[in-house]
Amino acid sequence: MGKSRVISACSGGVDSTVTTFLVHKAMGEKTVAVFIDDGLRREGEPEFVVRTLKNLQIRTKYVDAKKEFLDVFKGKTDAEEKRKAFRDKFYTTLGRVSKEENIQFIAQGTIKADVMETVKGIKSQHNVLEQIGIDSKVYGYRILEPLRELFKPDVRRVARELGLPKEVSERMPFPGPALSLRVLGEVTSEKISIVRKATEIVEEETMELGAFQSFAVLHNDKATGIKNGRRVYGNIVTIRIVDSEDAVTAKAKQVSYEILMRVSERITGEIPSVVRCLYDITDKPPATIEFE
Ligand code: XMP
Repeated sequence: MGKSRVISACSGGVDSTVTTFLVHKAMGEKTVAVFIDDGLRREGEPEFVVRTLKNLQIRTKYVDAKKEFLDVFKGKTDAEEKRKAFRDKFYTTLGRVSKEENIQFIAQGTIKADVMETVKGIKSQHNVLEQIGIDSKVYGYRILEPLRELFKPDVRRVARELGLPKEVSERMPFPGPALSLRVLGEVTSEKISIVRKATEIVEEETMELGAFQSFAVLHNDKATGIKNGRRVYGNIVTIRIVDSEDAVTAKAKQVSYEILMRVSERITGEIPSVVRCLYDITDKPPATIEFE
């Protein structure tokens, strides 16, 4: 890297936080961690990420891009189209920050599974570019991917070895495009609020299961239900809980009915528009972990 400074894009997940920590270890004060607030994060997540980076004594820039990100989803309903719109906004936002900071190197937490899925055409992960023939120079910088040969369990081992806090090393995977992948159909701020609240409930009620991932998905379709004695044509939410080692394959978790009922009662009770909760019992393959 010579005398260059470097930006490390950090969403707070284990991959990007390990990347940022390693870059900071190597480059010291020449590192700027950047957290992009796209308005698609889980409850309390932006505060968590900024606090974590501060505790690690890494200079951090918070970028408020909530409105811009929401705008890219207008009128888009196709999963791949939404993913590509997110990816482009992610890289152009980094381009803007790289100009502001006058830094031409960006580190990101891409891992082997991200590259494999994108190259195989299963789905376009938000953080894979050069491996599919897009030159990052079009966005105005060069990309560094120190973890691109590792799978998730290896990254966790690196995190533990580096002494990162448990909240980071054992953090549940959360996709880069965040809650946008969990709103089927067009993404709006209202739908994001619904899925954010449902996600919070699922995470709270299933934490003790130690699953690889547990989350909620908001459907595009509606269904009939009854709220306060009146017919409501309301939202449908699916609960997804999976066990996995590396996210390449996954098993739908066998969860007790008691837990599922509690989650369903809380979601339909605490979110006025939701009338129905479903549990997804499909493994990967044939499904994928996320719905989009
Ligand atoms: P799928 O849905 O393909 O997901 O079975 C495999 C793992 O990757 C996460 N995921 C992503 N992570 N950018 C990411 O950083 C993405 O675009 C993306 N899409 C899926 C997913 O949560 C699971 O852990």
